Amino acid sequence: MIERYIRDVPDFPKPGILFKDITPLLANAEGLKATIDALRDCVSPDDYDVICGVESRGFIFGTALALSVGKGFIPIRKPGKLPWKTASESYELEYGTDTIEIHTDAIEHGSRMLMVDDLLATGGTMEAAIKLVRKIGAEPVASLFVIELDFLEGRKRLDVPTHSLLHVG
Ligand code: PRP
Ligand code: MG
Repeated sequence: MIERYIRDVPDFPKPGILFKDITPLLANAEGLKATIDALRDCVSPDDYDVICGVESRGFIFGTALALSVGKGFIPIRKPGKLPWKTASESYELEYGTDTIEIHTDAIEHGSRMLMVDDLLATGGTMEAAIKLVRKIGAEPVASLFVIELDFLEGRKRLDVPTHSLLHVG
């Protein structure tokens, strides 16, 4: 059902990459609702206090899910975007490094966080996001994705239960 709204775009952003475009899914009311309903069914809302999403595509699904289950939403952002005191975590890319940040006072100590992003590829982004929320005293309880690229084995880097709606490869 969800799969039919994901568009495959060859050679984006680089030759040889088959990009999974979620914009047709977002544009379709039925597809979007089915996606959020399916994400909601992966982890019981009793098991987490707040939802955390990674800029930028993680904001879309994370916020929609938060609204759907009646929880708050905490953004993890790219560097220099958050105005208050931040904690940061860097991670390796194919070439160079990237950094993500969170407000140090984003949550109450010990809050149980459900981590949400659109895509699990190498797992570098979510691995860093999990480390980052631990730095500020939160407890990541699970990570949740719309799409997982199984052949990259990103879930091996994640030490929390991991759920994905669609598996590719
Ligand atoms: C993409 C995607 C995930 C991440 C997955 O984000 O939305 O966040 O890459 O890759 P990984 O598992 O190999 O770390 P991207 O940084 O391209 O930016 P965007 O969400 O702002 O589009
Ligand atoms: Mg992203």
